[in-house]
Amino acid sequence: DDYDLVIRGGTVVSATQVFRADVAIRGETIAAIGDGLRAPKEIDAGGLLVMPGGVDTHCHLDQVEPGMGYGAENFFSGSQSALRGGTTSAISFVTQFKGEPIREVLAETLRRGRRSIIDYSFHQIITDPSDEVIAEIPAVVASGIRSLKVFLTYDGARLDDRQYLKVLAAARREGAMTVVHCENYDAIGWMTEQLLAAGLTAPKYHAWSRPKVVEREATYRAIALAELVDTPIQVFHVSCAEVAEEIARAKLRGLKVWGETCPQYFAISAADMARENFEGAKYMCSPAPRDVQDREGLWEMMRRGVLDVVSSDHSAFNFTGAFAKDMNGRDAPFRDIPNGVPGVGTRMPLLFSEGVVKGKIDLPTFVGLTATNPARIFGLEGRKGAIVPGADADIVLWDAAKTRTVTNADLHHAVDHTPYEGREVTGWPVVTLRRGEVVMRDGEVTGAEGSGAFLARGPYAIATPTGHLPNGFDASTATLATT
Ligand code: URP
Ligand code: ZN
Ligand code: ZN
Ligand code: ZN
Repeated sequence: DDYDLVIRGGTVVSATQVFRADVAIRGETIAAIGDGLRAPKEIDAGGLLVMPGGVDTHCHLDQVEPGMGYGAENFFSGSQSALRGGTTSAISFVTQFKGEPIREVLAETLRRGRRSIIDYSFHQIITDPSDEVIAEIPAVVASGIRSLKVFLTYDGARLDDRQYLKVLAAARREGAMTVVHCENYDAIGWMTEQLLAAGLTAPKYHAWSRPKVVEREATYRAIALAELVDTPIQVFHVSCAEVAEEIARAKLRGLKVWGETCPQYFAISAADMARENFEGAKYMCSPAPRDVQDREGLWEMMRRGVLDVVSSDHSAFNFTGAFAKDMNGRDAPFRDIPNGVPGVGTRMPLLFSEGVVKGKIDLPTFVGLTATNPARIFGLEGRKGAIVPGADADIVLWDAAKTRTVTNADLHHAVDHTPYEGREVTGWPVVTLRRGEVVMRDGEVTGAEGSGAFLARGPYAIATPTGHLPNGFDASTATLATT
């Protein structure tokens, strides 16, 4: 058999099994999995885990922020960090500016993606579902962007319930997945006013302004409205078990609802936001990190498959400068500090170290959360997220015993800090292959700038309705003008 490359003697991990096998690659794809496979080029994987390259389906790379420009992290810098951390594809975002059409920013964002080394796709953010913007969605989806992102909070981005319904209806018509940032906008706004009026302005009060119940309420509402329209959603960045319970209930009712969490919810806690000298700002993200006692429930929800995906939610805010945590000064009230933490390169190592090494999840669950499930939920099954014949040969060779101390310089992302500085992490990639090519070895990235491919995502079964509509009436097609 004319294979080009064989990965010999490793322990292959899938989302269901762990087994000893060689993996043969021909061109860019996996050709065979078996014993005694031979090729002119071989990589000795003895003592290593052989896992699917990570798929990070929530990763803000070179995304434009209205009023701020593009972030610190472009696709080239972000790719280097991703590959060093075992991730070979990512889904970033196309912004939509209020009152403006999508097509220009879509074209510019696609152009910026061409610097990528990892393979990449986008979610289309909708901040202003005017009839004109809704009318552009079929073209956006036809261009391969088969997911829409909405925010139920944030000034300038949040949708009210009626606007959210309008986006859900468009998603249903197009067979697109909708991903939702679930927090109650008015509850946060009111609570923030009360805290600031009481003089409680430090970063740690960010968490007080948006407790779990604010996230749980919006999650329930996001699910209920998706049920009304009958269209699938994924709830982004679930912070705790109480929120995940809403997803568990939805799954039990047969709804197409998926859940995502991120390392910041098991590796950062609310106490980190209380660090002195504005350091607490480095740990601010939304939803807010919860208490250390909340972690066990989050692991349980990952083990039960209620939370299907661990993404990074990598955000490109520096600690200091223009596009930065301190852009409004170091005594700015928490309300005026940008939310989000970097983490594209630490996502898989942190989940491995905190989850697998500490016995919270097993190896197949790790692969499911980091690669197989995100690929399936976002229409990349067959290409990404699994080591199976015919799939792209995106593979990470992982040393489960290697312990390293995280430093920002070592992550090679463009952001000037990491919330995980100084942390001991066990389990790191030693070789990363993207479509059959070794693009990272021992921390050195060799993949060429621009060699990443845009992943156009076509129709897929997960993103289709269940067929259960209240009264059988399909409101999504009755009229396109509702607001
Ligand atoms: O705080 C966060 N998560 N910032 C990034 C944007 C988002 O809400 O996902
Ligand atoms: Zn969000
Ligand atoms: Zn995000
Ligand atoms: Zn270095």
